[in-house]
Amino acid sequence: MIQRQIDVSLGDRSYPVYFGSELTASFAPTCQQHGIPRRIVIVTDTNIARHYLAPLENNLKHFDFDVSSVVIPPGENQKSLQRAHVLYTALLKLGVGRKSAIVALGGGVIGDLAGFIAATYQRGVTLIQVPTTLLSQVDSSVGGKVAVNHPLGKNMIGAFYQPKFVWVDAETLRTLPAREIVCGLGEVLKYGVVFDAEFFAYLEANLDNILKLEPASVLHVQARCCELKAHVVSEDEREQGLRAVLNYGHTVGHALEAAGHYRILKHGEAVLLGMIAESFIAREMGLLPPDVHERIVQTLRRLPVKLARSSFSSSRVLKAMAFDKKSVEGKARFILPIRLGEVQVVDEVDVPLIQSSLRYVFGLAGKGSQ
Ligand SMILES: NC(=O)c1ccc[n+]([C@@H]2O[C@H](COP(=O)([O-])OP(=O)(O)OC[C@H]3O[C@@H](n4cnc5c(N)ncnc54)[C@H](O)[C@@H]3O)[C@@H](O)[C@H]2O)c1
Ligand SMILES: [Zn+2]
Repeated sequence: MIQRQIDVSLGDRSYPVYFGSELTASFAPTCQQHGIPRRIVIVTDTNIARHYLAPLENNLKHFDFDVSSVVIPPGENQKSLQRAHVLYTALLKLGVGRKSAIVALGGGVIGDLAGFIAATYQRGVTLIQVPTTLLSQVDSSVGGKVAVNHPLGKNMIGAFYQPKFVWVDAETLRTLPAREIVCGLGEVLKYGVVFDAEFFAYLEANLDNILKLEPASVLHVQARCCELKAHVVSEDEREQGLRAVLNYGHTVGHALEAAGHYRILKHGEAVLLGMIAESFIAREMGLLPPDVHERIVQTLRRLPVKLARSSFSSSRVLKAMAFDKKSVEGKARFILPIRLGEVQVVDEVDVPLIQSSLRYVFGLAGKGSQ
């Protein structure tokens, strides 16, 4: 049953995000309501296919859709031009034309990759996002950013391409590994710090319930995050200004991810550590009161992130920061919290302070700094 709907307002590209549980039976009828083409290709990975592919295919077939599926291996390294090429070939061999739809069934990796395919295959086909990780349900499936990685940087090749609708079935979280729930909660806490002190307080009070996937709190979290993201995307679809505030934790986070060659830390974990580092920077610059910093860090630390032994040197992390496409002319740009619910864009952060923030994070994670 659909329990909530949140609309992303983008003129004639507006679309709804539907939330509920055990939603599969209503998927095909919703496709019909939205006038989705009969020819549908589901893109997913092996972990997700095991649980969710057959029911979705059967539901679509039952309602007379012409369905094919492409199943790829899991993992961030699938977000590549090589994998995109293999997918284009598969679509061409299947005879998929312009009047067709791609269903991205999976986490952020599938959403970004299948979204990129939908944006580019034959100059664009219909896209539906069916996110199956907490991170993708609260963040990546909404907003239209699609991309693949380049060996020199993450998400370097991509587009803004909005889906026709987003389908968030909380039931899929039941099979998600605990580590992935933590990743999603990194982005969830980000919304609290950046936009909404009340939501942050809710998360502080309910974190244990959310970790246990208690349905009412999960729905509240999914819906509130999407509401906040929908607002930002409606105001600033192409990240000319406001949308950049969503990058709190991401300047250090992306650099940590890159420094670990995308193998050691997952995106959400890296963002979580990045938020701790950037909150430290904000405190040291006198922008964030120490008690608020403490509150942020204490809450983030309730989510376990393991740092592998001696994986990160400060210099490697700093080098990765210079490659981040969000840096302005080689200078890293930081989104720093100044109180709960408000952040400030800061372009000037001294390198020694960045280094101290990394030592602080590595220290908290129970490891030496280098
Ligand atoms: N486009 C955006 O705006 C945006 C925003 C944030 C992150 N991202 C991107 O999202 C990606 C990370 O996404 P993610 O954290 O969802 O990771 P992911 O897509 O790699 O999924 C994590 C793991 O969980 C498995 N999985 C997914 N759903 C499952 C389920 N329901 N049950 C069991 N296993 C399941 C996957 O196979 C994978 O192994 C990164 O590439 C990041 O750059 C994009
Ligand atoms: Zn992120």
